[in-house]
Amino acid sequence: MLADELIVAKQELLSKGFLDVELDPTIDLFQEIERLKKEKNAVLLAHYYQEPDIQDVADYIGDSLGLAQQAEKTKADMIVFAGVHFMAETAKILNPGKKVVIPDLKAGCSLSDSCPPPLFKKFKEQHPDHVVVSYINCSAGIKALSDVICTSSNAKYIVESFPKDQPIIFAPDKNLGAYINKVTGRNMLLWNGACMVHEIFSREKITKLKIRHPNAKLIAHPECEDPILRIADYIGSTTGLLKFTQTDTSQEYIVATETGILHQMMKASPLKTFIPAPPDNSCACNDCPHMKRNTLEKIYLCMEHELPEITMDEELRIAARKPIERMLEISKQAGL
Ligand code: 13P
Ligand code: SF4
Repeated sequence: MLADELIVAKQELLSKGFLDVELDPTIDLFQEIERLKKEKNAVLLAHYYQEPDIQDVADYIGDSLGLAQQAEKTKADMIVFAGVHFMAETAKILNPGKKVVIPDLKAGCSLSDSCPPPLFKKFKEQHPDHVVVSYINCSAGIKALSDVICTSSNAKYIVESFPKDQPIIFAPDKNLGAYINKVTGRNMLLWNGACMVHEIFSREKITKLKIRHPNAKLIAHPECEDPILRIADYIGSTTGLLKFTQTDTSQEYIVATETGILHQMMKASPLKTFIPAPPDNSCACNDCPHMKRNTLEKIYLCMEHELPEITMDEELRIAARKPIERMLEISKQAGL
């Protein structure tokens, strides 16, 4: 086997989580990734939950809506997606002619996994008068069964694009769905899914933390459970939370979302203090294990070998594209 083929084979195994490729430790990964971007006309898109080094080398960092918008308009030949599978899959759905690669194919999402298409199809059939609004954190199979997709930054606008008396199924995140029900006065039927990271915050520990930091504001992602959202000073998507900390006058924040976002918050407001909201046990559960599968090393290997690549059935892709396009159109009209 040639050396190059060996590396490709190793990379394929790595993507399946079977082994670690040892890279020459003297390689400057930042420089190499920049070189590969130019050589391959590649764009590196990263979610805010990626580790700081990845955010620093990315061409664009954003929330799920921003990333989908960037994926829709990029002129690059190859999209390198430093995020989780459903995000890279969304980029492929929007760009069938481009190569979309992800550093680790096993970077999944507990929320997406909580909604298997065959079960959801049966649920939908039981409610034929309902339209389906799905959070972007779902598989292409769920997107294909949906009328429109939403993200945490546009969910309110998407839901309000339907008449008030239109019955709606909201999937897969019950917490975001319940929050949108509250702010829109709707009564959407909620799929029983949740994010493993946003479900673990402890209201009791946050309350104690607030006693020690009386001037700190609690800012929370709407994937958090209702008891947390009820005591939050601000609720928003990752971009919303970041913007809030830039414009708000407070000096201290307790941040109830994945810890990766703190990197941009600290960069934008170096004199402010950001405290990750405590989980209800002593684990580092507010680090998303899926997001954190990606590393600089894996990004370098994935760009060098253009693997692992996102591929999908064309019929499924076409069916999944429609509700995403509808979301992008509504977002544009709302100025998002
Ligand atoms: P946003 O970045 O759209 O707020 O989503 C958060 C999230 O959980 C992504 O997986
Ligand atoms: Fe999925 Fe939650 Fe991780 Fe986002 S933070 S990728 S919703 S498991």
